Amino acid sequence: MISLKSKKEIEAMREGGRILAEVLRRVSHEAKPGTKTSDLDRLARELIFSSGARPAFLGYKPGGSGEGYPAAVCISVNDEIVHGLPGEKKILFEGDIVKLDCGVEYKNIFTDATVMVGVGKISKKAEKIMRVTKECLELGIGEIRPGATLNEYAKAVENHAREKGFEVVRDLVGHGVGHAVHEAPQVFNYADPRMKKIILREGMALALEPMVNEGTFEIVLSEDGWTYLTRDGKLNGHWEHTIVVTKGGCEIITDL
Ligand code: MF3
Ligand code: CO
Repeated sequence: MISLKSKKEIEAMREGGRILAEVLRRVSHEAKPGTKTSDLDRLARELIFSSGARPAFLGYKPGGSGEGYPAAVCISVNDEIVHGLPGEKKILFEGDIVKLDCGVEYKNIFTDATVMVGVGKISKKAEKIMRVTKECLELGIGEIRPGATLNEYAKAVENHAREKGFEVVRDLVGHGVGHAVHEAPQVFNYADPRMKKIILREGMALALEPMVNEGTFEIVLSEDGWTYLTRDGKLNGHWEHTIVVTKGGCEIITDL
């Protein structure tokens, strides 16, 4: 069941989204050569708590069981796609591309967003995958309106990625969001008959998150049990916004 959010819930989501966007903006400025990713996580926690919100990923169990996630921000570098673990020994180097994926709970409502940032001077191909993935998200968002299906979002994302010579990750998806971090529906980032059945309606809230690979779309799970990596070790791009479907289209809740 896909839930519709009330006016009041959407207002709370806007406030949470503003907090989250500001946290990501501040944390991304600290991603410099020599930074420990654990320091970025600590800063995010402080900013979230001092805003009166709660880090939604801290202790979260994506599969519903096992150990909870040990940090507030998933920090994934280069070939790491999602759920990278911040650590004292994980140091950023010039040329790295970093994904900062964070969620907050505010007034019982969840929002989820990811930004990418380059560390110092980055290569042309690193810059390209960051830019193209962001464009995929923007083009996909451009398709969101009442009456459209999620397949129109998915086609826009997939077509742009492929046109630029990239592949879309198939085994990880976006999702409904709001009453929990993850709600129905699953949002694939490639055209698929399952997406044709999902008709958008005013009040739906979605975390849209294209994941785009430089090489193969295949992924592997790291030995740490959390981090998903590209199978071939090539670069990945990932951007994410929480959006709400409105009468005229959609509203980006986590816009910076
Ligand atoms: N933003 C992540 C997602 O949508 C959520 C991470 S949950 C965590 O998959 F527990 F892995 F942090
Ligand atoms: Co998400």
